[in-house]
Amino acid sequence: MAELVLFVSVPAAVLAFGVPAFFKVCTSEYRWRDVGLHGGRDWRKKTKLRFPPGSMGWPYFGETLQLYSQDPNVYFSTKHKRFGEIFKTNILGCPCVMLISPEAARFVLVTQAHLFKPTYPKSKERLIGPFALFFHQGDYHTRLRKLVQRSLSFEALRNLVPHVEALVLSGMNSWGDGQVINMFKEMKRISFEVGILTTFGHLEPRSREELKKNYRIVDAGYNSFPTCIPGTQYKKALLARKRLGKIISDIICERKEKKLVERDLLSCLLNWKGEGGEVLSDDQIADNIIGVLFAAQDTTASAMTWVVKYLHDEPKLLESVKAEQKAIHKSNEGNIPLSWDQTRNMRITHKVVLESLRMASIISFPFREAIADVEYKGFLIPKGWKAMPFGNGVHHACPGNEPQKCNPSRFYVAPKANTFMPFGSGGHACPGYELAKLEMLIMTHHLVTKFRWEAEGSNSGIQYGPFPVPVRGLPARFRKESTNF
Ligand code: HEM
Repeated sequence: MAELVLFVSVPAAVLAFGVPAFFKVCTSEYRWRDVGLHGGRDWRKKTKLRFPPGSMGWPYFGETLQLYSQDPNVYFSTKHKRFGEIFKTNILGCPCVMLISPEAARFVLVTQAHLFKPTYPKSKERLIGPFALFFHQGDYHTRLRKLVQRSLSFEALRNLVPHVEALVLSGMNSWGDGQVINMFKEMKRISFEVGILTTFGHLEPRSREELKKNYRIVDAGYNSFPTCIPGTQYKKALLARKRLGKIISDIICERKEKKLVERDLLSCLLNWKGEGGEVLSDDQIADNIIGVLFAAQDTTASAMTWVVKYLHDEPKLLESVKAEQKAIHKSNEGNIPLSWDQTRNMRITHKVVLESLRMASIISFPFREAIADVEYKGFLIPKGWKAMPFGNGVHHACPGNEPQKCNPSRFYVAPKANTFMPFGSGGHACPGYELAKLEMLIMTHHLVTKFRWEAEGSNSGIQYGPFPVPVRGLPARFRKESTNF
């Protein structure tokens, strides 16, 4: 089992989450005694349902320290083995019910999704913008989701192939022969450029640079301690977020003046008109643009870094992916751009992409909160508690199939319902999944046809920032490969 390096240190986590959680729990409507285990007799009288098994840890801090002082996957799988598919815990001051089974994931995310709302810390919502679709349920969410989906439709993606390829290549062309590259940083650069392309289309250089500069500051402050004290990373991020809103407003003005009609997300949002003639406000548009950029960047960069890692660690796998990609490269005479059809027919590489997504489980669990008391298999999920279907647990819980091993050939058989959900499930499932896979395929094509690489130092750990990434972002030395196949 890989050694695990936690990106968030215990003291930082306690400081960042424990202190606000302490005040929240002391002042909010659910005091500790209401949480159930610690004397919630009145509560219990009201219902015959049982609380799920599990432990709530210490008052106020719950089991935060236990979680942050070990591999989170080990923490959850130990609890899974001990208590079964549903158990309670308390993390960062929030009482939670964890659910680890395909049926439970379907229950929370699909069949009873109306009983659970997505939930994010307010500090994150302020940085992304409260109108971003993933904070919402109901009509507003459905309307926005359709617009995001339209900008990421097959037709839109087909047209994007040469542009995504050009962005991947412009990143890779800057890698010198023998240079050590931090894979995650590089992949983050590429996925951000692709994000800009899908949201804004082709943006003029000045706005692009301003956007990048301010986005970087928001990104850096996203996981910092949320405080409005001047000079702190979080405060700087809030100010940069304000500037981003203004930059996007200026781009919107320019689009309106020039009457530009494009196929990107910005145009989809700008051109939407409701039945009564209503349109989206600049703030609604900006929050959704920034929301999509956020949703797209680190997730895809992390997934691409894992592909590079698994190919590095599994020489036989690398050989078969190389053979597939070299054949495509050869058929394109080495210089014709990849076509949409070619990206849809990378059978082996596609399985490697799926297996990397399964193994890494980039978003371990979607966060939900029960909006009413909910019953699941005789257990109570109380109103206001977090309900978290643990996708990583589902991905690693298929007995007899060596789930801990990287084995793309398992995808020769279609996964059983709800056992493979790297992009979530139900009404909030990822609308960007085809784009993410497209980027991963194009990146892999150029990686294996142009380079050999060797990871630098020990690379058998995971960092969370907050998504899982190979330790230190997988620094690797790259050598250019002869392309005379
Ligand atoms: C490998 C890369 C990616 C992974 C693993 C991933 C994973 C996910 C997951 C699990 C969710 C569901 C969260 C929930 O239910 O609360 C989600 C939602 C979302 N993703 Fe992705 N994603 C990836 C790439 C992208 C890309 C490239 C885009 C856009 C260009 C994108 C846009 C979104 C948006 C807008 C949502 C919110 C959807 C909604 O609330 O209706 N994602 N993603």
